[in-house]
Amino acid sequence: MGKLEGKVAIVTGAGSGMGRATSILYAKEGAKVVLAEFNEVSLNETLEEIKSTGGHAVAIKTDVSKEADVEAMIKKALDEFGKLDILANVAGIADDLTSIENYTNELFERVMAVNVNGPFYASRAAVKVFKEQESGGTIINVSSIAGFLGARGGAAYTMSKHALIGLTRHIASFYGRNNGKIRANAIAPGSIITGMTKKDPSHIDKIGMEAFSDLGPFNSGVPEDIATSALFLASDDSKFINGEVLTVDSAWTVR
Ligand SMILES: NC(=O)c1ccc[n+]([C@@H]2O[C@H](COP(=O)([O-])OP(=O)(O)OC[C@H]3O[C@@H](n4cnc5c(N)ncnc54)[C@H](O)[C@@H]3O)[C@@H](O)[C@H]2O)c1
Repeated sequence: MGKLEGKVAIVTGAGSGMGRATSILYAKEGAKVVLAEFNEVSLNETLEEIKSTGGHAVAIKTDVSKEADVEAMIKKALDEFGKLDILANVAGIADDLTSIENYTNELFERVMAVNVNGPFYASRAAVKVFKEQESGGTIINVSSIAGFLGARGGAAYTMSKHALIGLTRHIASFYGRNNGKIRANAIAPGSIITGMTKKDPSHIDKIGMEAFSDLGPFNSGVPEDIATSALFLASDDSKFINGEVLTVDSAWTVR
């Protein structure tokens, strides 16, 4: 029996990288998965891949920065499967290590809208569902080591990933007291090779690159390295873990 047998999960950013790997692993472990993603092509690729291996999934085109889209995403889980057990907030965008002096309002607003407003809208709706259910539910927020360090992203990326850790701790401390039926944990990946890291480096901010280069060499992982942690935090194996940040970075931040 899979570790998520009988569970219903939503995964945002399901079309690429960690969101895709997490969706596939959740389905393999028996969950019914709602795939949420704003790129329709990659969304359908993940859907087809899960279906071809006999997994259960449905897809909904979602821009997590839009509250109405996020509400529709939660409704999709309830309409299709009658409940929601797991919300994995994985969708996010990077900011080319942009230094504050070079930050435009447009970029700031976009990064915060996707990386903070999205998980905020989704977590608010999910917590309401979890409260109604006897079984509760669990949230996994994909933050970053930029969520507690300064030179792993630009200004708003760093701010946004710090904010996600705050959201995680808020939910765990306000709603976790009832035998931990409602849980929220964060994952802080180090460097993972995905669509995000494969971007054209010519746009990277010069000041940001200088700060980043000072950090020295590090190991890079693959999306599946994060999916396995997202599975652990979604499953009952972690039922006594609430409000934690799991760093998955192959020792980058302990040096
Ligand atoms: N790759 C890394 O090294 C790294 C390190 C630490 C944290 N992270 C975080 O991991 C998460 C996943 O990133 P990834 O590396 O897999 O990147 P990725 O670019 O491969 O995947 C992100 C997915 O999110 C989707 N997305 C972007 N904006 C969206 C929106 N508004 N609504 C819905 N979907 C949207 C993209 O289309 C894409 O499919 C992000 O939150 C990122 O900040 C990445």
